Amino acid sequence: MKNIDSYTHLRGESVYLDDIPIINGTLWAAVFDSPVAHGRIVSLDAGDAEKMPGVVRVFTAKDIPGENQIGGIVPDEELLASSQVHFCGMPMALVVAESEEQAKAALKKIRIEIEPLEVITDPRIAKEKGELIIPPRTFNIGDTTAAWSECDYVFEGRTETNGQEHLYIETQGAYAVPQENGVIKIHSSTQGPTAVQRTAARVLGIPMHQVEVDTTRLGGGFGGKEDQATTWAVMCALATHYLKKPVKYSLHRMEDMRMTGKRHPYSSDFKIGLNKDLKILAYEAAFYQNAGAAADLSPAVMERTLFHCTNSYYVPNVKATAYSCRTNLPPNTAFRGFGGPQGMFVIEAAIAKTADALNIDASVIQQKNLLRTGDELPYGQKAESEANECWNKAVKLYDIGKLRHEVKQFNEANNLYKKGMALIPICFGISFTKTLMNQARSLVHVYTDGSVGVSTGAVEMGQGVNTKILQVAAAMFSIDPVKVKINSANTYRIANTSPSAASATADLNGKATEIACNAILARFKMVAAEEFKVEPGSVELKEEWVYVDGSKTSWDWEKLVMATFTRRISLSEHAHYTPPQIHFDLSREKGHPFAYHVYGTAIITVTIDCLRGIYEFDSVKVVHDFGSSMNVMIDIGQCEGGIVQGIGWMTMEEIVYDKEGRLRSNALSTYKVPDIYSVPKEIAIHFLETKKDNLAIFRSKAVGEPPLLYGIGAFFALRNALKAFNPDADIAFDAPLTPEKVLMSLYAQTSRDVNVPGRKEVMEK
Ligand code: MOS
Repeated sequence: MKNIDSYTHLRGESVYLDDIPIINGTLWAAVFDSPVAHGRIVSLDAGDAEKMPGVVRVFTAKDIPGENQIGGIVPDEELLASSQVHFCGMPMALVVAESEEQAKAALKKIRIEIEPLEVITDPRIAKEKGELIIPPRTFNIGDTTAAWSECDYVFEGRTETNGQEHLYIETQGAYAVPQENGVIKIHSSTQGPTAVQRTAARVLGIPMHQVEVDTTRLGGGFGGKEDQATTWAVMCALATHYLKKPVKYSLHRMEDMRMTGKRHPYSSDFKIGLNKDLKILAYEAAFYQNAGAAADLSPAVMERTLFHCTNSYYVPNVKATAYSCRTNLPPNTAFRGFGGPQGMFVIEAAIAKTADALNIDASVIQQKNLLRTGDELPYGQKAESEANECWNKAVKLYDIGKLRHEVKQFNEANNLYKKGMALIPICFGISFTKTLMNQARSLVHVYTDGSVGVSTGAVEMGQGVNTKILQVAAAMFSIDPVKVKINSANTYRIANTSPSAASATADLNGKATEIACNAILARFKMVAAEEFKVEPGSVELKEEWVYVDGSKTSWDWEKLVMATFTRRISLSEHAHYTPPQIHFDLSREKGHPFAYHVYGTAIITVTIDCLRGIYEFDSVKVVHDFGSSMNVMIDIGQCEGGIVQGIGWMTMEEIVYDKEGRLRSNALSTYKVPDIYSVPKEIAIHFLETKKDNLAIFRSKAVGEPPLLYGIGAFFALRNALKAFNPDADIAFDAPLTPEKVLMSLYAQTSRDVNVPGRKEVMEK
């Protein structure tokens, strides 16, 4: 089935925040944010700003009627800075004016004095100074200390992965509209309508039932609007609360890039030990997460780094410790993969380093250590693994021998261009790691004409979740999908929702919808059974028709609906779902946190231009574990998008903060994201279809985050291409591997570099 949004998307009719008609009298907000990364506020004078034309009011911390607090996991983040600023871009004042231009003009009239304090941007320095968001956490299995002596090979190293700008096409924003009796309705471009509702209530000092949050769809989220959409929504609500007028704020791209957090950069250490058979016996890692100036979602992101620190491998002895380090950068936040990619990169680097030293291909080590069903992961859950199936299928289907041969031949025949290839297996756990968040509700109404309305807490952000939920309702009732309408996510219809995140939205909300439909279906069957004088068990609905014992009756869907209604039986249901079997014991760091895992293997090939340092990805060939896909088109879209986004993170996207904590890559002219020209020339996706029982909706496994992980392979493919040109280059595990870094590595001086034939020839030309 086609994505139900495709029609309105194509015609430009889909409604995003900026498509909501503006109510007469709407005011416009703009935030004044800190120009320095750390300091004590000596004074803030908005007197001149308030005298500017059109300005209605300037709000500061002292105007907040409730708590000046937006921290979700840890209460450590003010909405508006009161006495100190902790990062460049931290909101200090909110200007509200009759027009957007007037609000922006008034920002320039705010005068501040800030006494500078020490700025920390490096997570390792933060850790040394004891600046940790939460105490460190360690995952442990086996005994690494004892295992080292059994290892024939032991290697240590260090890795860096940089952040990543979400770059959702629709920037952050919100529109607050006053209702009667002090109620505020907020249209918010958020992945978490309940987070917005809860935080607005907290900051305004009003009950949650006074805040209605409504979200039709987002122009992208990628995690960036899981927690950080709240700020702007609450800003608008604050102004509406006082001024009793609609207030809108939709951020300019540069404001968004400057003021919001990104994927967490990590600096990490590893130690890996293998025996002669290349089995990984022991692995130790230390992760220094750059959390930014406040917790935001960092503790949860850090947790997922630990969960995924062994990627798709079985390692019997593991000790991994993670530190969430407080720095003076904007609070970093959720980003597709949620700390998982950062953890996986490190073990892939450890394997690559081992392969270099032993002069073998990394894939030999990767293959020998793939997870098997029954293997215990460092956190206690036993794998139900498709890792070997995906790997073996990829190797065979894409003829790895032939691919290798082609790369070798190409490299022998070319001096100015070199190819590199890498395999990357993935494993990603599906569920919120915080067990309590794994719950969802669905409200299903069957109307008397036979049409159906479904409301859930799922937020459509381009991932196609609404289409999947619609498919669930249509399949359950066996009706034409056009009879089903998916409504906006609204906190007045569906309460206490988890954000649309963790790849789990279709599973959780789809299952709740399945339960709701089933409850209504049971009533339909009772009514039909009574009419046809049979047991409800012999009634069936097939393609909008009632069947009894396999035979078509005189009742169609509409007739059945009306008959149920006229008997005064409810045509509506509000259902609750929570996945069974999941639990986690934080005191032991053991449990069964995930409903299931998603597996896959990708083969990535790249060609570098050894004169310019630029490169093109030839192909990404994937075998991905979809379970039993309920929507092939949407799932392919998620895979392709995830792969390109992952490659972007690993190769070209480079976030630069200077020593003073100022974002230098603060616009699209200085921050390069993949465009259509940087998409691999070929992306092949093979569906490993498994019919095995799992907790996915209709056994169609979650697909939002896992494909991004294939992008990690891009780094190692590039690295291999570099080594084909300059075998002695010592290429740091420092992502992204930008064209600049590639160029430097191509001509890196090493002790033996005079003997590199490829290099010499190029230098002679
Ligand atoms: Mo997503 S990174 O779990 O918002």
